[in-house]
Amino acid sequence: MKILLIGASGSIGKILEPELIKNHDVVMAGRNSGNFRVDIADTNSITKLFEQVQNIDACICVAGDCYTGDLFSLDEEKLNIGIKNKLLGQINLVLIGQKYLNENGSFTLTSGKMADKPVKNNISKAIVNGGLHSFVLATSLELERGIRINAISPGKVSEIPAFDLINSYLKSVEGQINGEIIKVNY
Ligand SMILES: NC(=O)c1ccc[n+]([C@@H]2O[C@H](COP(=O)([O-])OP(=O)(O)OC[C@H]3O[C@@H](n4cnc5c(N)ncnc54)[C@H](OP(=O)(O)O)[C@@H]3O)[C@@H](O)[C@H]2O)c1
Repeated sequence: MKILLIGASGSIGKILEPELIKNHDVVMAGRNSGNFRVDIADTNSITKLFEQVQNIDACICVAGDCYTGDLFSLDEEKLNIGIKNKLLGQINLVLIGQKYLNENGSFTLTSGKMADKPVKNNISKAIVNGGLHSFVLATSLELERGIRINAISPGKVSEIPAFDLINSYLKSVEGQINGEIIKVNY
């Protein structure tokens, strides 16, 4: 399979990449690193990426910043960091990428436990992750040409056995599931 891994140089990306390359052709992309540069907060940059990397079977996104801070410090500008990068960034990857992905391809997005089990100072992550879950559920009903979509919703990655994290992404990419939120280490 040809897999486009966005955010490959991040903490999750670094865990996934060595496993994925065992059986797949992996193209790495990131804002400042990888085989291709992309800023998922910029739709032109996403379109350019899909024009450059052709013949993709699976698109995995493990990228997207969010503001961390308490309710009192939160304002529209800080909320917009997560909305623009992690929420709309991943949504736009799908809206644009659906036109480029191979038949029977898949999108695997990354959300996080804060959607369901928030802790203090993570309101932005909570709403962004929750929005991603709703997007995946609804979008899975409409994607065409056999394309599937799922979200991986991990707890704190440093506390998750690498095996569990890797398997959750492989389940989405190599399996047949569609419209699932895979919760890892809740
Ligand atoms: N780590 C955790 O415990 C955890 C738990 C649950 C959910 N998550 C979620 O999983 C995702 C990845 O987490 P992580 O810990 O691996 O993050 P990370 O270590 O900060 O790495 C993020 C990666 O994404 C890239 N990136 C960030 N914004 C981008 C953008 N706008 N366009 C393109 N690439 C961008 C970064 O590239 P550059 O370095 O080149 O900028 C980097 O390679 C995040 O959305 C995070 O919220 C993480």
